[in-house]
Amino acid sequence: MLYIAPSLLAADYADLRNEIARMEDAGANYLHLDVMDGHFVPNISFGPGLITSIRKHTNLFFDVHLMISEPLRYAEAFVKAGADIITFHYESVADPLATIKAIKAMEIPCGIAISPKTPAEAVMPFVGVVDMILVMTVEPGFGGQSLIPETLDKVRALRRQAIKMGIDLNIEVDGGINEDNASYCTEAGANILVAGSSLFKTKRPRGVMQKMRDAAREHPFLG
Ligand code: DX5
Ligand code: ZN
Repeated sequence: MLYIAPSLLAADYADLRNEIARMEDAGANYLHLDVMDGHFVPNISFGPGLITSIRKHTNLFFDVHLMISEPLRYAEAFVKAGADIITFHYESVADPLATIKAIKAMEIPCGIAISPKTPAEAVMPFVGVVDMILVMTVEPGFGGQSLIPETLDKVRALRRQAIKMGIDLNIEVDGGINEDNASYCTEAGANILVAGSSLFKTKRPRGVMQKMRDAAREHPFLG
């Protein structure tokens, strides 16, 4: 099954409650929450306070993507705010395995993300360990960029490895995804699509999501 995760970064912040409801009504599975600290990435978004506020208004699965330095320093606050999974960046920590263990000890699923320049090999050892691998398809920091096609080779490599190990791995792609390139993502082996601009900046999010689901059905992983 394909999971669709609208990224709140592209929403109208003055109208968050309705923006979230709009995505829920359109058939979203997750709400992707991009946390940026102005240090790990050159942009600042929002923190646990905002997540606590919106948690009261939706039952969507909160997919928290931490683009911050020292993710462990803040992970607990995001768990308390209502995160359903915490994903941190491989590049943001000295010891990824210790970070995974510490997050899992908070009794929450844990994902690991890689930026475009980080090879798939970096996270291969975590295929049977994490609940999700997030392959960034743009440089983290800003919405509205174009998908970098080469990043999908990493998705393919990770999907192959997971199949070899008999693991039903969640592979999420994030950045520049729309109804036209969703098929490339699913064909490469992604089963969770994050989409900011293409879902929030359209008047027909349901139609876009339907096209993405059609893409997943018509263009499954090719091996
Ligand atoms: C980028 C974020 C993405 C971004 C996606 O740093 O991680 O989640 O919001 O937005 P679009 O779909 O507009 O590229
Ligand atoms: Zn993201």
